[in-house]
Amino acid sequence: MGTIIAIANHKGGTGKTSSCFQLAGYYAAKGKRVLLCDLDPQASLTKLFGFDPQTLHPSLADLLVDPNVTAADSIHATRLPSVSILPASIHLAAAEKQLITRLNREQALARVLRPSVDAFDVVLLDCPPALDLLNTNGLAAADELIVPVQSSSLAAQALPEFMRTVEAVQREVNPSLVLRGIFVTMHQPNTGHSHAVLEVIREQFPGKVFDSLIPLSVAAKDSTAAATPLLTYAPTSPVAEAYRRLADEIIHHA
Ligand SMILES: Nc1ncnc2c1ncn2[C@@H]1O[C@H](COP(=O)(O)OP(=O)(O)OP(=O)(O)O)[C@@H](O)[C@H]1O
Ligand SMILES: [Mg+2]
Repeated sequence: MGTIIAIANHKGGTGKTSSCFQLAGYYAAKGKRVLLCDLDPQASLTKLFGFDPQTLHPSLADLLVDPNVTAADSIHATRLPSVSILPASIHLAAAEKQLITRLNREQALARVLRPSVDAFDVVLLDCPPALDLLNTNGLAAADELIVPVQSSSLAAQALPEFMRTVEAVQREVNPSLVLRGIFVTMHQPNTGHSHAVLEVIREQFPGKVFDSLIPLSVAAKDSTAAATPLLTYAPTSPVAEAYRRLADEIIHHA
């Protein structure tokens, strides 16, 4: 059965969507069947793959609220071989509001996703930048959590608050959720600021910070803009190498 990995941080712009995309590229190249799940009403990952969230149907929003829609209906192939997506649409925010009144509202995603997980080796959940019900559903459905943190002191300061939320979800909703690790994105190796931020995060979460540091890089931005993973877009770039190492750290022998 596939491992469900949530990529989450309530802070905006920490590299969640970019990292989902890049990791999907690496795992697919290793022959893994990858499912991406876009839990963000901004639908960045969905748009990256060329889908139109205005017209897309059925999407995750339909799957969450319409009992007649199955996960198999809502999962779409992408133009990357072995990578499928359960996309977001403009109805996702409304779907979240509908969930609020449901029984067992935190488990809605887990319930609908589980039957399809067998068809994949890795399921990556791109969580929204909020401590909302969609984020909680992502954490509730996941086996493992990885947390990208942007290399900035404000992002590092926000991390303990997010981790308290994760602990609450582990306590009350998903006791089997494992914090797999934290990784730093947009790292600037030659600056004292980036080093200081890294030290703070390592001190706060000893043994939980991945060795691989994702550098700040125009190639990373260009790769997502071109919807082409770094592995093919800029395979020899330092950021491609950093994501390759991170992918191996997350799933050993992937
Ligand atoms: N390693 C990197 N180097 C330079 N820019 C990056 C890097 N990683 C991501 N970015 C850029 O930073 C911005 C935010 O990245 P991304 O959308 O992946 O973050 P996010 O956490 O998903 O954001 P949100 O919280 O809004 O969902 C994007 O413009 C992206 O292209
Ligand atoms: Mg995002």
